[in-house]
Amino acid sequence: MNEHIFSIKDTLLQKEDKETMLGHKGVVLWMCGLSGSGKSTLARALENTLYKKGIQTKLLDGDNLRSGINSNLSFTNEDRTENIRRAAEIAKLFVENGEVVICSLISPTKQVRLQAKTIIGAEDYLEVFINASFEVCAQRDVKGLYKKAMAGEIKNFTGLDAPFEAPAAPFLELNTSENSIEECRIELVNQVLKKITL
Ligand code: ADX
Repeated sequence: MNEHIFSIKDTLLQKEDKETMLGHKGVVLWMCGLSGSGKSTLARALENTLYKKGIQTKLLDGDNLRSGINSNLSFTNEDRTENIRRAAEIAKLFVENGEVVICSLISPTKQVRLQAKTIIGAEDYLEVFINASFEVCAQRDVKGLYKKAMAGEIKNFTGLDAPFEAPAAPFLELNTSENSIEECRIELVNQVLKKITL
């Protein structure tokens, strides 16, 4: 941190002020899992359900961020770390505003998820593991990326030649190969509502 920077954060309206105004708590749902595991689908379904209940949300999706603020980043370990750092800093801005932030990023390693948790703050960070095996995701291959990766056309592909470490103790684990998206959505919404009630 630069010694010539003077944060005015303490003098601003606080998270609690915004939460009182909105009528719910702000939290970050950090949804991690393989490409094609169902993160974005569930993130969208969660956001739509909360929207109908008048809950203020912000959805941050890896592919979307990588089309904008993170467009200069690749899939090396170093760049993924920076990708997650920026996503977590953005999530922090929204959660401080009392909003329910839904982050949908592979965030493949324990180290990058710990980084996100540290930036956001443990009390606001809820890790949701969207679990589907590599084989199931490769079979779905919604974006056609698995086929390309297995043909050697994409380097550092998560689960193939780049690691994915499953979370040991997530807030919630949803298995999208054993349960329907609708079942997962209901479970996710129920758990989230419990956490954001004032
Ligand atoms: S993360 O690992 O840095 O968290 P992020 O969620 O932002 O990843 O981006 C993942 C998305 O990028 C995937 O859903 C997929 O569409 C695309 N993608 C492109 N190249 C790769 C790759 N090498 N590994 C994984 N996903 C990739």
